[in-house]
Amino acid sequence: MLRNIDTRKLNTLMEQNEDARQIINQLLENHQTLTSTISHEIRNPLTLISSSLQLIQAQHPEVKQFYGWEQAMEDVDFMRRLLDELSSFNNGNRLRLSVFSIEQLLKSIAVSFAISLNEQNSAIEFSSRIPSDLGDITGDRLKLEEVILNLLRNARDAINGQGTIQLFAKRCADTIHIRIKDTGCGIPAEHLESIFEPFQTYKPDGTGLGLALSRQIITAHKGNISVFSKEGEGSTFTVTIPA
Ligand SMILES: Nc1ncnc2c1ncn2[C@@H]1O[C@H](COP(=O)(O)OP(=O)(O)O)[C@@H](O)[C@H]1O
Ligand SMILES: [Mg+2]
Repeated sequence: MLRNIDTRKLNTLMEQNEDARQIINQLLENHQTLTSTISHEIRNPLTLISSSLQLIQAQHPEVKQFYGWEQAMEDVDFMRRLLDELSSFNNGNRLRLSVFSIEQLLKSIAVSFAISLNEQNSAIEFSSRIPSDLGDITGDRLKLEEVILNLLRNARDAINGQGTIQLFAKRCADTIHIRIKDTGCGIPAEHLESIFEPFQTYKPDGTGLGLALSRQIITAHKGNISVFSKEGEGSTFTVTIPA
């Protein structure tokens, strides 16, 4: 898997040399195809295993008491999530562009995120301020939704018990700014750059793909994603995209 620094080096090489550009593009395409094929091949039997385990559990609820059963179910779930995120990461820079209202997208994300917090009986206070002058943007609606949801989920994971999460948006000239602020555990200064690397996680059940994918999607939109954080106080992630 390419790290951010490798991607930047590759981009420089491709800008400097046309032959290198063609060969690297071909290699990247092969790499993407290979990753998709392997993910797909693993996902199919894994889905069958997951369905069988669920069926066994439905017919024999006593298996829940068996040593290792819950852990096996969690591990299968984790592998499915990992494959889903890997597949999103693999396709992160292939955008399906359309013109849509960023205000509507953010408002619908805010509603579904608030509902998910409610369902989890969370003590987290969530608020959003999304003005109505954001206008339309050209972008990949589903992928941008994935980015904002990733950032909101990370904010939720960072809060242990009580805290607040805020979602703000504003338009400055031709740029949309989206900000997600939490009062969670914060990020140690020495982790601030590495958290964007693929597979870099500090959570026991993390995949470490959320921020890598988010940065890839935002870069493909010619935007930027940055973080400001203080350990013990909270974090603010800011996404800017051209309108
Ligand atoms: N809002 C946040 N507050 C504190 N730490 C964060 C926040 N967002 C991300 N992180 C840190 O960045 C790491 C990488 O995040 P991510 O790429 O989404 O992977 P994952 O959530 O699977 O760990 C997390 O494990 C966490 O340590
Ligand atoms: Mg995450």
